Amino acid sequence: MESFVNEVNFFEGNNPEDIAAKFGTPVYVYNERILRHRIRKVAGAIKNYPYRANFSIKANSNLEILKIALEEGINCDAMSIGEVKLLEHAGFPAERIFFVPNNVADEELKYAIDHKIMVSLDSLSQLERFGVLNPGGKCAVRINPGVGAGHSDSVVTAGKNTKFAVEEKDVPELKKVAEKHMIKIVGLNQHIGSLFMEPKPYIDAARNFLRIARQFEGLEFVDFGGGFGIPYHKLSGEKEFDMDLLTEELEKVIAEFEKDYGGNILYKSEPGRYVVADSAVILGRVHAVKESYEKRYVGTDIGQNVLVRPTLYGSWHDVEVLREGKPVLPSSGTRVVSVTGNICESGDIIAKERELPIIGEGDLICVLDAGAYGYSMCSPYNSRPRPAEVMIGEDGSVRCIRKAETFEDLIRLF
Ligand SMILES: Cc1ncc(COP(=O)(O)O)c(C=O)c1O
Repeated sequence: MESFVNEVNFFEGNNPEDIAAKFGTPVYVYNERILRHRIRKVAGAIKNYPYRANFSIKANSNLEILKIALEEGINCDAMSIGEVKLLEHAGFPAERIFFVPNNVADEELKYAIDHKIMVSLDSLSQLERFGVLNPGGKCAVRINPGVGAGHSDSVVTAGKNTKFAVEEKDVPELKKVAEKHMIKIVGLNQHIGSLFMEPKPYIDAARNFLRIARQFEGLEFVDFGGGFGIPYHKLSGEKEFDMDLLTEELEKVIAEFEKDYGGNILYKSEPGRYVVADSAVILGRVHAVKESYEKRYVGTDIGQNVLVRPTLYGSWHDVEVLREGKPVLPSSGTRVVSVTGNICESGDIIAKERELPIIGEGDLICVLDAGAYGYSMCSPYNSRPRPAEVMIGEDGSVRCIRKAETFEDLIRLF
């Protein structure tokens, strides 16, 4: 594929130069049609058993996106009380919010308890605290199924090298703590890590997880976690995550479990990236082109403050070049360049030594797959206010869904 934005009609007939002129650059641009399509995909990930997808809003917590999730009928996961409050603000009722924190103070647990929000505890000590605060209450526990997966060590969240969850050998102790405070463990959740492109690690973990689940009586739900990948190398033909295969394999594992575990279990998942990643691009402007020690650099306003994934994880994002609003295709000639931002760090590189169409000052750079862990990880580093976010609606209209920060926002708390 030479151009994703052309292939999927990402801008829905709008000229990206008009968007850049109206909202400035850098700017996050979302496509509502793609977003809704992805939400519907995860909502159907389990078909033959009671099931709910929980969108993990750490990937993207823009209020407008939360409202679309609310309208589409999926539930949401929150990692902090800030995220819980955002969901409440967007209109989510308590029963559609699942609070999955780790290492939180009593105040956060208490907020969730007072607001009747289901909490998952991720250690014996957090369960103990919950028990003291809410004797006789109901909760979930996060289990480490012993198998992890992910695109970088820092996002593998199960297995032997992670701070998360409770391992199987501690299940008897878990039950003792629960008994002491008369707490009912009604749910179990797991999350093995983020970004795998094959269903296999998820299925393996689900099998272990449900084996552990058999040791608990009276469960009302089990949550298999998120982590489904998206093709970040789509311009070179990387294929989509096979959700249909996941459904087929996961339902087999569930069928085995249901043979001997009675009750009426609700199954859940917690995808973040898969829901939002492909639905957004970042538009940024090229302000400098230079050569240094025989290396060519393209300097843009998309710094690591705007998109930190390449700097933080060494992540790949496909990049397209737009001139006069249209993609410049690689077939018109290429050159190896590093596309960098405007932040005072040598690691501030969006695309390192990439073969890209020939880029000139004034061109727009379009960074693909920026909807997950993009804006939600933005910072005002180097005192650069965070950019605007805009949404292209299904009818092609463009609306601002978050204004750009201003200098006044930077000094507001002093
Ligand atoms: C507990 C938990 N659930 C769900 C997710 C969502 O993961 P992803 O965006 O890879 O689907 C994460 C992110 O790592 C997480 O920590």
